[in-house]
Amino acid sequence: MCILNYPYIVKSLPYDIVSLEPVIDKTTLVIHHDKIYLNYIEKFNLIIKENKDLSKYSIEELIFNPYLIPPTIYNKTLYYAGGIYNHELFFDNLSPAKHNTIKGLFNEMILEEYKSFDNYKNIILKLASSPINYHWIITTINCKNKLQTIGLKDNDTTIPLDLYPLLVIDIAEHAYFIKYHNHKEDYVKSIFSIINYDVVNERLLSVINKKR
Ligand SMILES: [Fe+2]
Repeated sequence: MCILNYPYIVKSLPYDIVSLEPVIDKTTLVIHHDKIYLNYIEKFNLIIKENKDLSKYSIEELIFNPYLIPPTIYNKTLYYAGGIYNHELFFDNLSPAKHNTIKGLFNEMILEEYKSFDNYKNIILKLASSPINYHWIITTINCKNKLQTIGLKDNDTTIPLDLYPLLVIDIAEHAYFIKYHNHKEDYVKSIFSIINYDVVNERLLSVINKKR
């Protein structure tokens, strides 16, 4: 059998591991990327090694078509696949704080949907401080080309909801606790200074261009 997607490989960070400081400290990012995300990849590879039929599908295909996964490994496969998928989006939409001003079509759509960038940030802060233990806050574009910002638990993804992820923020304790302790809101407020809006706009344009 031709194995196309096995083993799944760790994606390197597109920036230096210390370069998100002071917003995200080196220790947090080392644990998050080199241990937690790596662990998802190792566990996922182990599943595929024992179920080689699944190796012909990409992670997105497995999440989008979960009926392809045998029932006995269904939950753990989706858990690790979702963990890889969301973490890669998250790490990729960060960058060192230099030119991290919201811009482009994403900015226009934020103003249209939320009236101001501050309103948008407040919606994210509200989701982050909700009693529901979200791992993720994700701003998406829906099938009507409207922005929608949602919270997701565990390693759930936006794929089954037919929402395309544009801006992904990891708000699990492992993403902030070493530096911010129980002050999750301070972490969320700070993270806007290290969002790579070029990447967010690229994702947005790729969806809009596909629909044309
Ligand atoms: Fe995480």
